[in-house]
Amino acid sequence: MKLSKNYSHLTLNQQVIEQRYKLSYNTLMKIGKHTLDNKLIVAPMAGVTDRPFRQMCRDLGAGMAVSEMVGSTSLLRGSAKTLRRANHDGETTPRSVQIVGFDPKMMGEAAKINEDMGAEIIDINMGCPAKKVCNMLSGSALLRDEDLVARILKATVNAVSIPVTLKIRTGWCPTSRNGPTIAKIAEDNGIKALAVHGRTRSCFFKGDAEYETIATIKNSVNIPIIANGDINTPEKAKEVLEQTGADAVMIGRAAQGRPWIFREINHYIQTGEYLPEPKLDEIESILTQHLENLYKFYDEYIGVRMARKHVSWYSKGQRNGGKFRDYFNRIESAAEQQTAIKDFFGELKHGSIANFS
Ligand SMILES: Cc1cc2nc3c(=O)[nH]c(=O)nc-3n(C[C@H](O)[C@H](O)[C@H](O)COP(=O)(O)O)c2cc1C
Repeated sequence: MKLSKNYSHLTLNQQVIEQRYKLSYNTLMKIGKHTLDNKLIVAPMAGVTDRPFRQMCRDLGAGMAVSEMVGSTSLLRGSAKTLRRANHDGETTPRSVQIVGFDPKMMGEAAKINEDMGAEIIDINMGCPAKKVCNMLSGSALLRDEDLVARILKATVNAVSIPVTLKIRTGWCPTSRNGPTIAKIAEDNGIKALAVHGRTRSCFFKGDAEYETIATIKNSVNIPIIANGDINTPEKAKEVLEQTGADAVMIGRAAQGRPWIFREINHYIQTGEYLPEPKLDEIESILTQHLENLYKFYDEYIGVRMARKHVSWYSKGQRNGGKFRDYFNRIESAAEQQTAIKDFFGELKHGSIANFS
């Protein structure tokens, strides 16, 4: 076997293992007729994974990005906010849209509406622990009612001609980790891929994600499995892929303000080496473009508010970041926001002092 020179620091045995791993990394995951570009998926995050953010992550190396969840009831009512969430103009394929709800018939209808609006994959959310969602017996609350899970999956799969995927947690609580049973139900009802967040519903976001249950799920079904939870570095992504045998990993919070994490992971897994951190010039250019896309996608009023959230993530850990954020959050216009970004990066790059007061 020809070995890449990047592995020259490893023993021969380690090199063979690494090469095998690299080959399996290149075996790409399929969802129905769609073959993903790589094994990295952007996690759906309400209020974050809008079209501009999804596209930014795709451009910087993600193989797929799942949209924010869209409630089946609100979709059927067609509010402006919901319709914007279901807008995919110009988005890189495959376009996956998440829906959430508890009524099988309405979930089928919501899936069909999204298919008609350009979704190429429907993802069902049974992972969200939010009270607003759980009290209505949807999101992760559904994991307690396996019969209802089966009826929802069947109704949704039957309502559309595109593939349907499912996102779950490992179970309701640590003593009820029924993820493997739900996975079997999913497979039996025509679900084409399953994403698993390695926490139970009762864990919310506390503690560390665990991957043993994800490995058990991977071994108990034949549909592709996507591992999710606390993946925040290239090494962690590789470790989780190896430990679980999952077909892909899904990354949420670690992409906030760092959409280039996807290319970093791809590079690390392919070469065993780290990419250097992006230069300030590149970060400035990514952020400026991201904000322009937000202003265009929303209107200026909403775009300016959405920009505050993203800028707070991009500027985390940068010199004078706190002072800059206080200033930036008080700006009311797109033009002034862009000027502030220019001044902030000018200060970081050239040591000039901007007046953020
Ligand atoms: C702000 C925020 C919003 C989220 N919204 C959703 C959602 O709409 N649907 C969903 O299935 N999961 C949602 N999640 C959960 C994420 O998809 C993911 O499972 C979780 O953050 C763990 O992955 P991470 O450690 O990579 O962030 C959300 C998470 C965050 C932080």
